[in-house]
Amino acid sequence: MSSIRQRPSTKPNPDGDLPQVKSNGHHSVDKTDTKSPKTIVLVLLGSVLISLVLVSYRSSTKTLPESYALCSHEEDGIYTVDGEDSRVQCLVVHQAQVFDRGSLDDVKLRWKNAVKRGQVTDASSANLEIRFINPGSIVVPGLSDSHAHILEYGSSRQLPLEGAKSVEAAVGLVHQYIKANPDFLQDKSKFVEGWGWDHTSWPKAEWPTAADLEADPLFSGRPVVLQSKDGHALWVSTKVLEAMGPLPEFVEGGVIVRNEAGKATGVFLDNAQDLVIRPAPTEKDLIRRFSFAVQDAVANGLTSVHDAGFSPKSLAFFKRQADEGNMPIRVYGMTFFDENAEYWGNQTDKLVHDGTGRLAARSVKIFADGALRSGGAALYEPYTDNPETNGFMRLSEELLNSIIPKFLSDGWQVNVHAIGDRANGIVLDAFEVALKGVNVSALRPRLEHAQILTEADMARIGKLGVIASVQPTHAISDMWYAQDRLGPERVKGLYAFRSIIDHGGRITLGSDFPVEDMNPLSGFYAAVTRVSPRGESPHGPGGWFPDQRLTRTEALRGMTIDPAYASFTETKLGSLEPGKRADFVVLSQDIMVVAENKILDTKVLATVIDGRPAYGEI
Ligand SMILES: *[C@@H]1O[C@H](CO)[C@@H](O)[C@H](O)[C@H]1NC(C)=O
Ligand SMILES: *[C@@H]1O[C@H](CO)[C@@H](O)[C@H](O)[C@H]1NC(C)=O
Repeated sequence: MSSIRQRPSTKPNPDGDLPQVKSNGHHSVDKTDTKSPKTIVLVLLGSVLISLVLVSYRSSTKTLPESYALCSHEEDGIYTVDGEDSRVQCLVVHQAQVFDRGSLDDVKLRWKNAVKRGQVTDASSANLEIRFINPGSIVVPGLSDSHAHILEYGSSRQLPLEGAKSVEAAVGLVHQYIKANPDFLQDKSKFVEGWGWDHTSWPKAEWPTAADLEADPLFSGRPVVLQSKDGHALWVSTKVLEAMGPLPEFVEGGVIVRNEAGKATGVFLDNAQDLVIRPAPTEKDLIRRFSFAVQDAVANGLTSVHDAGFSPKSLAFFKRQADEGNMPIRVYGMTFFDENAEYWGNQTDKLVHDGTGRLAARSVKIFADGALRSGGAALYEPYTDNPETNGFMRLSEELLNSIIPKFLSDGWQVNVHAIGDRANGIVLDAFEVALKGVNVSALRPRLEHAQILTEADMARIGKLGVIASVQPTHAISDMWYAQDRLGPERVKGLYAFRSIIDHGGRITLGSDFPVEDMNPLSGFYAAVTRVSPRGESPHGPGGWFPDQRLTRTEALRGMTIDPAYASFTETKLGSLEPGKRADFVVLSQDIMVVAENKILDTKVLATVIDGRPAYGEI
């Protein structure tokens, strides 16, 4: 499947150094970095002259004062996403918050009065500086991705395999990567790690094997571990297979792919992936992955990301970044539940803030089943294209029924990965019991993906107040094979976003990057059109099950105020109202009105967090 990235992303050479993101979140590229002092003086002189010439009509070359108004030339160019979805001309930022919003005349007058009364006090307060966005561009609240994997994204950018349209092409990409890296050529024992292969997009649609890698002599004796696009399968080299020693017959909630003789061929699904031994990433690896991801995030207009899976190590890493002030975006982390570890819900401190902070960790991520693409989603009835299986649960019903109430009663938000209708049903059973007599808005449990739902379970989501955390880009990726796999009736309950809302369910939108493109506008486009980026679908150019399209307002809310609710931060984030944080994005055109086939042409001009640009300028 092709990536639908619209904007060139940072695709640096795998071991290339990245510009560090500065601690205040202001990521500026200092163009004079590598120059001699003399050059710097000349460049500075030059910029002063240019600034003098430009200053009269282009205010953004001047330092942004602490307080300012950002205005549109139109009276409604700022989408506040408040309760009435109101639109205004100007937004006033003061002390990293939204101070006021309204027409230019109104906000000027109110500012003057506030100064008079001593309500605002900083050096720049007396004269409110007014800045204008370009004609035609708009401001929306900071965009949020409710389900993504930050470090995995960074890692996936090192050796991306999405483009490979055959097993040979994938092997070829890995070959080029090894050849381009002196480290690998010098040290044959260094692990080669890649991400993004998708056998369903290959001519034969069969699992690859270790032997496919071994066919190229460069791979002989090398440890290679390649993650599938959906993150649910690992493809390894013979060297890695050998190091694993004797394999168990059977893995609960996982599959070891074997040949007719019963020998493992080099692919491990879901829980069986844990059998694969790889070196832990170094701190330098983690910092590189983190920097790739957050730079791409702010360039895509993301101010907040819900990370759908911290391991104890990655949680510690994020805490270190937050403590050092190196957290350019807001991260809302879900910590993995590991059935082999001791229960930690009653002895772990939650990292909680109302939205003003940068890192939160107060939710647990539990895996109920596998994925649709790899056939691991747990269904009530067998797969239409493989009647021998119903998929599988990764955790037993008994275990889910015991740990879900436990985490909830210890005050954790419980976010359960559930794809198949059966997995969703089992998790909703557990939620239903645990939520009896409980104020759901204090706990806000979430179904992560909630892909295939029976009608009855859609109604239960609405009744219980469970949040369906869904990914619209999955719908337009999977629409090509979904009916073959599920049959013509059951497929109607797949990615049925409109039906979920109509049953009173709450949604929140995400991308699942790196499984899908990070660009939130790709999700927006998918949700409102249900066609591929080329305007196609199995049901024609009107969209795949077009009745399930979201309105643009719903889609915008799904990536702003809904994720804020889903992360307990709606009093400070998700809309542009006085007292909320000044997190917003300037977009080059009005995504709420442009033609559908133009949505993906939209550029992010600036991403602002706490009133300061983290990307672009205002
Ligand atoms: C936490 O829960 C576990 C399992 O229910 C229990 O064994 C343990 O004693 C509890 N610890 C605390 C500190 O309450
Ligand atoms: C439920 O909890 C929310 C806070 O999450 C609170 O605002 C609300 O008042 C509570 N409702 C009831 C009925 O206690």
